[in-house]
Amino acid sequence: MDAPKPQAVTLTIDEREVTVPKGTTILRAAESIGIEIPRYCYHPGLSSPAQCRICLVEVVGAPKLAASCVTEAMEGQQVRTQSEPALEMRRGVLEFYLANHPLDCPICDQSGECKLQDYVHAEGREHGRSREPKRVFGRDDFGGDVLFYGDRCVMCTRCVRFMNEMAQDPRLAVVERGNRSIIDTFFDEGVEGSPYSGNIVDICPVGALVSKDFLHKARAWDLEHTPSVCPNCSQGCNIEIHTRDNLVQRLKPRDNPEVNQYWMCDYGRARYEWLNRGDRIEAPLIRTGERDARAAASWEEAIRAAAAELGGAEGPVRAVASAFVSNEALVALATLVEALGGGEIVFRSPRTVGEIPLPGFEKLARREDLAPNREGAEALGMKRVGTNDATGGLESLAAHAGKLVVLGDELEDAGPEFGAEAAAYLYLGSYPTEGAGRAKVVLPITTFAEEEGSFTNHARIVQRYEPALQAPGMARPAATVLEALRAALGTPAGALAGRRGS
Ligand code: SF4
Ligand code: SF4
Ligand code: FES
Repeated sequence: MDAPKPQAVTLTIDEREVTVPKGTTILRAAESIGIEIPRYCYHPGLSSPAQCRICLVEVVGAPKLAASCVTEAMEGQQVRTQSEPALEMRRGVLEFYLANHPLDCPICDQSGECKLQDYVHAEGREHGRSREPKRVFGRDDFGGDVLFYGDRCVMCTRCVRFMNEMAQDPRLAVVERGNRSIIDTFFDEGVEGSPYSGNIVDICPVGALVSKDFLHKARAWDLEHTPSVCPNCSQGCNIEIHTRDNLVQRLKPRDNPEVNQYWMCDYGRARYEWLNRGDRIEAPLIRTGERDARAAASWEEAIRAAAAELGGAEGPVRAVASAFVSNEALVALATLVEALGGGEIVFRSPRTVGEIPLPGFEKLARREDLAPNREGAEALGMKRVGTNDATGGLESLAAHAGKLVVLGDELEDAGPEFGAEAAAYLYLGSYPTEGAGRAKVVLPITTFAEEEGSFTNHARIVQRYEPALQAPGMARPAATVLEALRAALGTPAGALAGRRGS
């Protein structure tokens, strides 16, 4: 039997007709046709207390203005978001907010992405009329990565509700009353150690909660935003990478109702500095002598040398991959190994014990696998080896006498004799490492932040990411490099067709 269709209602908002499922609020109905009604206390992931009054709109025939964040859209309703009564009321609300708000936009980290700035600019009064001295609260360290500037708070309580409803770790509250109301912590440690507390900085609509890590680092309008996927565990939270001057400045969550809703964990948020490392392999290198003597080469020379090395060597092939490289690179590696006669591919990846769930949204947890693509590697038949800190497990490969290919593993524990017995040894990586010392050819590859690709998360959802940074020097995506190498070996594309589909 077919499930009953949800009932729909049709209304007009600013003279535009819209049909939405019954139960939708006016604010959401307006949003669905691109009309943004101001909001402070409303957040789609939290309860709606309807306390800030900035979302007031006129409903024709109603005796007073309606808080659109909690008022249900009704059949035949006529809503006016830009009528004079609505604008006049919202101007008044904004004037109240500004009565105590400091005019410190020039030194506020939220400037450029602040909802008080935006709304006052769009519909506030040109001049304030308050002559009273402003209330002063000053700054407080809330613990973790969070600083609180009490004077800037608009008392929307999003931060309090996030800690209560999503983190279910009530560490914040409104204290005092009326004009003296302020957000405060219960204990000295504040939100320290609460693993999702960084989200309160994201959802604070003004500059009251700011990140210590990002403090005065960049202006919002100087940042470029690139859609990406967090590489720090197999949850695969959807994120934006914010960059300036080709450096990552911060990571922010990006909405995805199936994976991370509006949130991300503090562990993932804090781990981006490795993307800014300057010690990179920037050019293809061909060994010219016994040990570390190497000469930089063009890509053409390097691919030719790698193909000659691998194509001309005897013995079976073995390969090491990384759970930090894309699905595309893993498929290209598997194709190459098959083209070379087939062989075992293993990978190492860090792992911890125990997941850290977000209680208010159970699909999200910091997972045990602290790499983004274990599922992608395993789906291609690659076997995880080594310990939970991604060391060990390569002993037999270190002494392998046939063909040896390493993709992305930094071989931190391998030592300079790794691959010394190999008939042919090819290393593809981003950072210089002792373990590549015996490789005949070293090929520079991009990190995930410098390329387009995909990871497969713990629930086998394949998610794409885009390039946020320019690659250093001649580094190229591993998938492109491996594909060029396969072509140079003369193997037709699609040799792995059956496996790709598995
Ligand atoms: S600190 Fe920010 S999120 Fe919390 S109540 Fe104040 S304005 Fe709202
Ligand atoms: S849960 Fe995992 S994927 Fe999400 S932000 Fe944290 S580390 Fe990154
Ligand atoms: S957003 Fe509607 S009352 Fe705050």
